[in-house]
Amino acid sequence: MQVKDISLTQFRNYLFQNFEFTKRIIGICGQNGTGKTNLLDAVYYICFTKSYFSKPDAQSVYSEMRGFRLEASISKNNEYNNLVCILRENNRKEFIINNEAYKKFSDHIGKFPCVMIAPDDVELITSGSETRRTFLDTILSQLYPAYLQQLIDYKKILEQRNSFLKAAAERTYIDDNLLDTLDDQLIKSGGYIFKLRKEFTASFLPKVQKEYAHIASNNDSVILNYYSQLHSTGFKDLLRQNMQRDLYMQRTGCGIHKDDIEIQMNQTPFKTIASQGQRKSLLFALKLAEFNVLKEQNGFAPLLLLDDVFEKLDAQRMHSLLYKVCVEENGQVFITDTHKDRMQKAFEALGTDYQLIEL
Ligand SMILES: Nc1ncnc2c1ncn2[C@@H]1O[C@H](COP(=O)(O)OP(=O)(O)O)[C@@H](O)[C@H]1O
Ligand SMILES: [Mg+2]
Repeated sequence: MQVKDISLTQFRNYLFQNFEFTKRIIGICGQNGTGKTNLLDAVYYICFTKSYFSKPDAQSVYSEMRGFRLEASISKNNEYNNLVCILRENNRKEFIINNEAYKKFSDHIGKFPCVMIAPDDVELITSGSETRRTFLDTILSQLYPAYLQQLIDYKKILEQRNSFLKAAAERTYIDDNLLDTLDDQLIKSGGYIFKLRKEFTASFLPKVQKEYAHIASNNDSVILNYYSQLHSTGFKDLLRQNMQRDLYMQRTGCGIHKDDIEIQMNQTPFKTIASQGQRKSLLFALKLAEFNVLKEQNGFAPLLLLDDVFEKLDAQRMHSLLYKVCVEENGQVFITDTHKDRMQKAFEALGTDYQLIEL
């Protein structure tokens, strides 16, 4: 799979610009603020129908303008796909593949698998559980369309249940039938998501450990556990046990929206003892494991978007990362850097053909 070209119209700092990608390895260089990250995010948009940085779409419109358009051509299994993402002036988004508009954007997810590694991604390790759930969901949604649908359903029902709890508290009256119906729906979607997360993490986490050992080149015992309240108690019982508290708090305090991946090193929470280097190693391990899983499932490598990774890794680790993704793998790789010389040197050390885009 390769992106052949992309045009950006009124997208972030680009009023109108077309980029042609003629090689498998693409280096994008330019000083800070020249639009390197924006270009990578445009590619991400085309794969996911939204920004990697979970900003509202309207923030991606060139200042003072209304609406944007992204159009890309991607070859996959020897077929060309024309992909268009339009944000209309009224802020409605459309996504069109080969001249046909999607009714549901979720149908697009996973067709053009893609992994981004961006500078602030260590948050995946250091910040709250939501970033890790999003990480899991992003992989599972690309692997299984049914998972994404259940996730969308779950979030919708959870919102309805929370509104219900709020209304119940205000009126001091509970419609038991309605609550039962909501609970049944929540249990159905939540149960499905739990099962998939559990099965998936069981095979994914050893892959992360393997990548970690390789990148960090040491024997830290890094352990990742899938945490869920559903491990010990059935969802129905959990909801029942939490009923009084939920009514008091006016929101649902248990379920798969509380899941996490607990990371430990030498029996201590990872983020409290890991050095910056160990955090970075783990971040790359998580992302490379994601890359591997998507590749296994699809039979071809996902797109890899590496934003400013030269700033994050020392020369040796950088070389071994680039060797893996540019030489051992055969997927398309986009890499940004502020230093042209550094990037050129790195590619030349690999001996691979590459295209250099200067912004
Ligand atoms: N909606 C927008 N309209 C116009 N310019 C924008 C918009 N969003 C971001 N920018 C500009 O894009 C530039 C940052 O681009 P970015 O891709 O982050 O640069 P780089 O990664 O090369 O440092 C900044 O100058 C910022 O002001
Ligand atoms: Mg940037």
